[in-house]
Amino acid sequence: MTVIVIAGGLSHERDVSLRSGRRVAQALRDVGRTVVETDVNADLVALIRRTEDAVVVPMLHGGLGEDGALREVLSVLGVPFVGPTGAASRLTFDKSVATPVVAAAGLAAPRQIALPHDIFRELGAQALMESIGQQLGYPLMVKPSRSGSALGVTKVDDAAALPSALVAAYAYGPVAVIEQYLTGTEVAVTVLDEGEGPVALPPVEIRPESGVYDYESRYTAGATRFVTPAALPDGVLSAAQELAVAVHRALGLRHMSRVDMMVTAEGPVFFEGNVAPGMTETSLAPLAFEAAGRELGEVFASLVDRAGL
Ligand code: DAL
Ligand code: MG
Repeated sequence: MTVIVIAGGLSHERDVSLRSGRRVAQALRDVGRTVVETDVNADLVALIRRTEDAVVVPMLHGGLGEDGALREVLSVLGVPFVGPTGAASRLTFDKSVATPVVAAAGLAAPRQIALPHDIFRELGAQALMESIGQQLGYPLMVKPSRSGSALGVTKVDDAAALPSALVAAYAYGPVAVIEQYLTGTEVAVTVLDEGEGPVALPPVEIRPESGVYDYESRYTAGATRFVTPAALPDGVLSAAQELAVAVHRALGLRHMSRVDMMVTAEGPVFFEGNVAPGMTETSLAPLAFEAAGRELGEVFASLVDRAGL
C-alpha cells in the first residue's frame, strides 16, 4: 500500500494544511508506511492512478478540502480515502447546514441565522441590525458559513458593530452565519471510529492567553494553553463526549472527526464539526491522541487500513 497525503490546496488554510500534511506523512513513515506527499495540482489524478494500491489521506483544510469536492473525485476514481464521504464533508463544512442538522437531531446547538450576501445588500444594514438584535440579542458571533481556523469570525458586542463583522465574513464566501454567543469553557472532542463504532477521546480544553481563540492563538506556539482532559467534572466530560459522538453520527461522519463545543452552564453546546481536523504541532486532535495513549502515526495507520470509498 502507498499512502498519498494530499495537503496544501488553495484555501485560506493552505499553510495550516501543509503543516498538518507534513506531520501526518512523517508520522506514517515513522511507523513504516510508504508515503507520497502531494499538493492539489494538475498531476494529482495521474499520480493517484499510477500509484498501485493507493490510499489517500486528505489533509486539506478549508474550501476544496473540507467541502467534499476532492473526496467525490476520489470516489469516482475508486480510490479509498480516510475520513467522511464527500456528501458528509460538504454538509459538515457548511455551518448554515450542519448547525440546523445537529439541532434537528435534538442536540444542543446555537440559535443561528444564515444570511446570504445578496439579502444583506437588499435589506440594508439598519433593518438587519434591528431584526437580528431582536431575534438573537447581543453579543453574538458572525462567521463565514464555509471556512475554518476562525478566519473571518468576529464577536459582535452591539448593533453598530454588526455590518462590518458581516462584511469581514463575506470576504470568505457568499453566506455568513450569525449565531447566539455561547459563554463557557471551549472544548474540542476528537472522535475516532476504527470499526467498532465512534468513540470520543478525552476532551481538550482551550485557554487562549489573549482570551480569543483566533488564527494567531491557534498557530503560534505558546499562545494557547491546552488542558487534556479538560478541567471539568467527570459528568460534564462524559456529556461532552456523548455530544461529540451524537454529532459525528448526526452528520454522517466516519473514521475521524473533531467536534468543537462550548460547555455552558446548561451543558455542552455544539458549534462546529471538522472532517479534516488540524494535525499541526499546535492542533487539538494530536493532543487528544496523546491523552488517549495513542501515537499519531499509529492512529493514521489504523485509519488507512480501514479507508473506504
Ligand atoms: N480548521 C482547522 C484546520 C482545524 O479545525 O483544526
Ligand atoms: Mg473548523
